[in-house]
Amino acid sequence: MINPFRPTAGAQPPALLSRSGLLEEFEYGLRIRSGAPGLLTIITGARGIGKTVMLGHAEDLALEAGWYVISETATPGFGARSGAAMRRAEEELGAGHLARKVTGVTMAGFGVATQLTPEEQVTWRQAGEKLLQRLDANATGLLITVDEIHAADRDELAQLAADVQHFIRAGLPIALMFAGLPAAVSDLLNAGVATFLRRADRIDLHAVSIGETAASYGELFAQGGFTLGADLAAEAAQATGGYPFLIQLVGYFLWRQAEARETLDAEAVARAVAAARRRNDRVVIEAALATVSAKDLAFLHAMAQDDGVAEVGDIGRRMEARPNTVSNYRSRLIEAGLIEQAGYGRVDFAISGLREYLRAHTG
Ligand SMILES: Nc1ncnc2c1ncn2[C@@H]1O[C@H](COP(=O)(O)OP(=O)(O)OP(=O)(O)O)[C@@H](O)[C@H]1O
Ligand SMILES: [Mg+2]
Repeated sequence: MINPFRPTAGAQPPALLSRSGLLEEFEYGLRIRSGAPGLLTIITGARGIGKTVMLGHAEDLALEAGWYVISETATPGFGARSGAAMRRAEEELGAGHLARKVTGVTMAGFGVATQLTPEEQVTWRQAGEKLLQRLDANATGLLITVDEIHAADRDELAQLAADVQHFIRAGLPIALMFAGLPAAVSDLLNAGVATFLRRADRIDLHAVSIGETAASYGELFAQGGFTLGADLAAEAAQATGGYPFLIQLVGYFLWRQAEARETLDAEAVARAVAAARRRNDRVVIEAALATVSAKDLAFLHAMAQDDGVAEVGDIGRRMEARPNTVSNYRSRLIEAGLIEQAGYGRVDFAISGLREYLRAHTG
């Protein structure tokens, strides 16, 4: 048996932990096909918590139900690409050879312009309507997924939302599912980009249960013919903090230890955990920090002096900065998904291992 763990962004994990039932409304909606609440869903959560994986899972459910899927990421031009995909799908359906799933990559070269002309917009809405009518006649429907919605251009999002709202009003079988960072998504919704999106079903993803993680490690290693005692499985699970990306990393490195030595002991677990943390630091933390300014970084360092939740007032004093300025840093870092609100005037880190990383890399 080859290493089953998948420590890569968006990769389907060997076991989808602590997520059962979350897409029940959506699945139910697929049967109703139009106007059901679950057909309009927004998935939010911190980096690496499993948003892209959930979108992929929803796409699989839709395909199993016989639906068609357009899978997008909110990079510039996504609205135009979705429009172009619908138009092409309409043509292909007419010719009788429609691919069941289309991604933005497949559509590269189409609609790179971020702004559609009013005529293009009308053409594409009409194409979408025709496509959906045909799908409806065949008792199926269309799911559009958009990942990284926090990065979306607001005009593009408003356009796509207006089209979808129009299709819903016409009773057509359309589903829309977004995924993005929580604070930025809230901002986007509050900015009135598309009021109807505020009524979307919201699924907020959190850490996975440590107990389930330990049990899953036990099962997977047993399947591979390795013995991982309950104590060691619990220890490895504990070290992940229930953070999905770390669950995959720790499992992956532990599997490599098992392949090398076959009997897993406390030392093997410690090594796997250390390797997993180093990789998590490089991939998640350094990527996230690369986008913040020097001042924001100073805020994070001031915050890392606390062992747990930090008072924004204390951070301001440590930085010797005025409340207004501090409040600006705070908002920016929440938006970037690095920290999160933890009660009135208090914040906490939103990324596992960030505090330890900052402490180890001062200055
Ligand atoms: N429920 C889960 N149980 C176990 N592992 C999971 C689960 N969900 C996701 N993973 C794993 O966690 C990692 C991150 O998943 P994913 O890329 O979906 O996160 P994300 O929230 O989209 O991250 P980002 O914000 O960086 O885009 C992947 O390696 C994936 O296999
Ligand atoms: Mg993702």
